[in-house]
Amino acid sequence: VEPLGVAVLGCGVVGSQVVRLLLEGDADLAARVGAPLEIRGVAVRRLDAPRDVEVPADLLTTDAHGLVARDDVDLVVEVIGGIEPARGLILEALESGASVVTANKALLAEDGPTLYEAAEKAGTDLYYEAAVAGAIPILRPLRDSLVGDQVTKVMGIVNGTTNYILDKMDTYGAGFEEALAEAQELGYAEADPTADIEGFDAAAKAAILASLAFHTRVTASDVYREGITEVTAGDVASAKAMGSVVKLLAIAELDGDEVSVRVHPVMIPRSHALATVRGAYNAVFVESDSAGDLMFYGQGAGGEPTASAVLGDLVTMARHKVLGMRSFGESAYADRAVRPMGDT
Ligand code: HSE
Repeated sequence: VEPLGVAVLGCGVVGSQVVRLLLEGDADLAARVGAPLEIRGVAVRRLDAPRDVEVPADLLTTDAHGLVARDDVDLVVEVIGGIEPARGLILEALESGASVVTANKALLAEDGPTLYEAAEKAGTDLYYEAAVAGAIPILRPLRDSLVGDQVTKVMGIVNGTTNYILDKMDTYGAGFEEALAEAQELGYAEADPTADIEGFDAAAKAAILASLAFHTRVTASDVYREGITEVTAGDVASAKAMGSVVKLLAIAELDGDEVSVRVHPVMIPRSHALATVRGAYNAVFVESDSAGDLMFYGQGAGGEPTASAVLGDLVTMARHKVLGMRSFGESAYADRAVRPMGDT
């Protein structure tokens, strides 16, 4: 059988774990795909940057465009993050017929439709399970398993860094800065943690969740957003005294044919299932007409858990290549009204 070539773009906290799992899982993954997966290259900004995992030097390249353009690259993993050069590289990959897995929530929330349409046009797969709630399978259940049902509400803790911070403040009365530094050390935080603490990361994820749940197009700018920087030790202590806990929640609702999406801190009773989500864990509740209530729980951040979701997508797309098929795309959607931000 012909091997399938994989290009990995980015080798940070997640990318380095993807490379490790691909190299270590070699034989098992080949059996599941029905063809060996061979890494053709790992594109990085700096060849000599320190990395969590040792990557064979002959795989590293600074020429991401050249790597994507290779004829023997069938599958591309984008874990660079941010809008450019990620968007350009993903589009080049799709146009050349490669399938793409991305963990890039900011890009999907800002300009997802451009990517979906490019994948549709090229007849290739675009998967992005790792973009929301790290290791937790939530996007494929919304896109595939629940496609015959009508989801009416999605509510979740989708940012590990802020949950880690709020949990430390609640449990030990820890200070905000100290808890943030720990979350950064553990590899949960974004390169610029402003995206976490100001709620931009959760808002991007909320937009992706709402788009899939309600089969419409919601962008990050449609999401009402408040982060946790205004939450004081005093707020957390008073919530505690009342038997409650402060959590940053992403809430997406379908009301008639109108969608509303918001991210803000919420005081929830300790008896609520979401109150039990500790550390960098995430949880997402889904309410739907026929399935009723569903809950998804697990590690929402960190290199290895997030890499698990990337590998799941990569192996699925590789299997599709072997079978000559492709996934359910995002091109079919209903254009629903999105309630203006702040109008709750
Ligand atoms: N910074 C993100 C978080 C990483 O803390 O949840 C996972 O998307």
